Amino acid sequence: SQVYLNGEFLRVDEAKVSVLDRGFIFGDGIYEVVPVYQGNAFRMAEHLNRLDRSLAALRIAQPFDRAGWIDLIQQLLARTKLETCIVYLQVTRGVAKRDHQFPSTPVAPTVFGMISAWAPPPAAQRERGLSAISIPDERWLHCEIKSVSLLGNVLAKQQAVDAQVDEVVQFRDGYLTEGSSTNIWVVSGGKLLAPPKNNLILEGIRYGLMGELAAEAGIPFESRPISREEVEQADELMLSSATKEVLAIVSLDGKPVGTGKPGPVFAQLRAGYDARIA
Ligand code: PDD
Repeated sequence: SQVYLNGEFLRVDEAKVSVLDRGFIFGDGIYEVVPVYQGNAFRMAEHLNRLDRSLAALRIAQPFDRAGWIDLIQQLLARTKLETCIVYLQVTRGVAKRDHQFPSTPVAPTVFGMISAWAPPPAAQRERGLSAISIPDERWLHCEIKSVSLLGNVLAKQQAVDAQVDEVVQFRDGYLTEGSSTNIWVVSGGKLLAPPKNNLILEGIRYGLMGELAAEAGIPFESRPISREEVEQADELMLSSATKEVLAIVSLDGKPVGTGKPGPVFAQLRAGYDARIA
């Protein structure tokens, strides 16, 4: 399938960006990852709302209106045979002489879009759950922006790989933040808990969705600071993201979470998610 770069549809090997692009030089840009099921971009409006918020946060000029973004996604999907896949969108501040501050004369943002092959997590992961280790959150204080400056997330995920686990669970000042590229959920005393939406986590598109699914299933949901102790004593842990959907975390730092198997609250939320993507 073809990729989109600054107004053109190209083969991926033909798509070239200047070495002076501020995305390359400074990580000065934002992105979105939208899952597509049976040709339909799931929760597209919510993803595009977040893209708008990320651009506004970095004061990067909005390259398209909403209809333009939807059209781009449709055009990318029209150029692939994949029915279930990922739409990746990225906007950087554009190409300028290397200088930290924003270019004084406005430059056109670099707009990139591609379809990536993707398959939902295999049945084995859904049935058995995932393993994780806890690590200190060493990222910056604007984790709410979906920025391509992902070094902190990259280093965090590599710690998981080095420890031969699936994901990290990060803590800042003794409180849960999120995974390397996932939101983390805690079940305690029959309640679903998530850290508050603030500058310390990315508000996943599944953050709002999990709240809806919990409400539908009659599971009380609380968004509040969650201590390390509460995580260690959780009945269930789970994670969510565009690519991992909703999966249980059944072991943390080598110890079983709850029974060590995906729990009943996970099963209910997972069933709700499956119904939405069907
Ligand atoms: N990551 N937190 C972080 C740091 C993330 O990078 C992501 C998503 C999430 C979950 O957000 P959502 O539900 O909108 O996918 C939370 C994407 C998938 C990525 O970087 O590939």
